[in-house]
Amino acid sequence: MFNITFHPGSVGPSERAELLKQKGATIWLTGLSASGKSTIACALEQHLLHLKKHAYRLDGDNIRFGLCKDLGFDEKSRNENIRRIGEVSKLFADSTCIAITAFISPYQKDRDAAREMHIKASLPFIEVFVDAPLEVVEKRDPKGLYKKARAGEIKDFTGISAPYEAPANPEIHINTAETEVAESVKIITNYLIEKGYI
Ligand code: PPS
Repeated sequence: MFNITFHPGSVGPSERAELLKQKGATIWLTGLSASGKSTIACALEQHLLHLKKHAYRLDGDNIRFGLCKDLGFDEKSRNENIRRIGEVSKLFADSTCIAITAFISPYQKDRDAAREMHIKASLPFIEVFVDAPLEVVEKRDPKGLYKKARAGEIKDFTGISAPYEAPANPEIHINTAETEVAESVKIITNYLIEKGYI
């Protein structure tokens, strides 16, 4: 066991929120590859910044260039990927930022663990199911990954050769086959306003 001690700061969460005039939260987008997570995350970040809210996007592909570049796509690696992002998004939210995460995050227990971290820190965690049927995302296939996965060139590909567990009780459920990006942004923003988070 390491000899470590947690040091609380001189400014508590409510004083920080009061001083910075903003409350933190994590908006957790989950869904299949090409379901629209990154597109919604970008548009939402832009919208919140234009509302003068401190928002920051953490995106699966991007984070795998740095913080998670040692991880692959087997189940254990994905568990660790989501554990790290749960912790990082919690820190962003604790700093009063609105963290917007866009990860496939295919396992319910990993998303639940990320939620638990936030609950323990009294920070809002908003799970958004970015939902599009496999036929639709496979037709979109913007990076050609489904084609490669079907051809057996990519192993453990979510929806094809690796599982995706749809959220049991997401705060928000968006069907991107029927909802425009601007409408998705509106749905999430309205939720934040209704809950008094922004
Ligand atoms: S996870 O499951 O949450 O750990 O995945 P994530 O960090 O979000 O990374 C998903 C992006 O990685 C690319 N990619 C794959 N996705 C799924 N399965 C396999 N095997 C795979 N290999 C590479 C792909 O571009 C995903 O991006 P999105 O934006 O979801 O399409």
